[in-house]
Amino acid sequence: MLYENESFQLNPEKMPKHVAIIMDGNGRWATKRGLPRKAGHKAGAEALERIIYAAKELGLEHLTVYAFSTENWKRSAEEVGAIMDLLRFYLKNYFKKFVKDNIRMHVIGEKSRLDTDIQKAIAEIEDLSREKNGMTVHVALNYGGRDELRRAVTKIARETADGMLSPDAITEDTISDALDTAGTPDPELMIRTSGEERISNFLLWQIAYSEFFFSDTLWPDFDKKELERAIYYYQNRERRFGGRLK
Ligand code: FPP
Repeated sequence: MLYENESFQLNPEKMPKHVAIIMDGNGRWATKRGLPRKAGHKAGAEALERIIYAAKELGLEHLTVYAFSTENWKRSAEEVGAIMDLLRFYLKNYFKKFVKDNIRMHVIGEKSRLDTDIQKAIAEIEDLSREKNGMTVHVALNYGGRDELRRAVTKIARETADGMLSPDAITEDTISDALDTAGTPDPELMIRTSGEERISNFLLWQIAYSEFFFSDTLWPDFDKKELERAIYYYQNRERRFGGRLK
């Protein structure tokens, strides 16, 4: 519940470097207003734009958002088409605006199942923004945590079969480095909106020590204040990484 006069004193010393978000509730937001589900996704994309700038203002280094999962293909062809059109529009137009504002755009997930024009737009925006260092936004598209691990295992198995890597030399870092998120610190905070409390196959390896924040707000209504609330709760929890407090 967000109270109108609630305000959060965030500690700049304890800001998370990486926040991941499961943007849930677009459909319910639209249904509540008597609108088609695609209107919810459009409002969801607008919320994402707001949150990207809010995260940058708060000084986050990485923001990872779950935009389309490997399971989302099971939705109606009409809804999948509407989400893909929205992605197309944002990738080809809007993401350039983020790049102008010094934001690096990076896509995680299995891209080969996406339409070729979408794949091309992803490659272009990633190239265009490679040197930007204001903040990195990782957009998960056709992403599944298990599928990412499966692809990492294939990559590592190939290296061992080729004699480039000994099976005994495989460390946790070998696995982290074979994931789509290679080089990105694990998220300290994972947020899911809309009151659902599940991980739904998102970043399974990377969330080993993440704090979780479940917000009742439907994603299209999520705003900077709610992001601050999530970070406030994160800052006031003790992170022990399985160890004991001294
Ligand atoms: C979950 O809400 C949302 C999605 C599956 C799609 C998320 C997509 C966006 C926020 C747009 C992304 C746009 C860009 C440009 C990256 P839901 O449909 O599952 O909602 P429900 O649970 O209320 O039905």
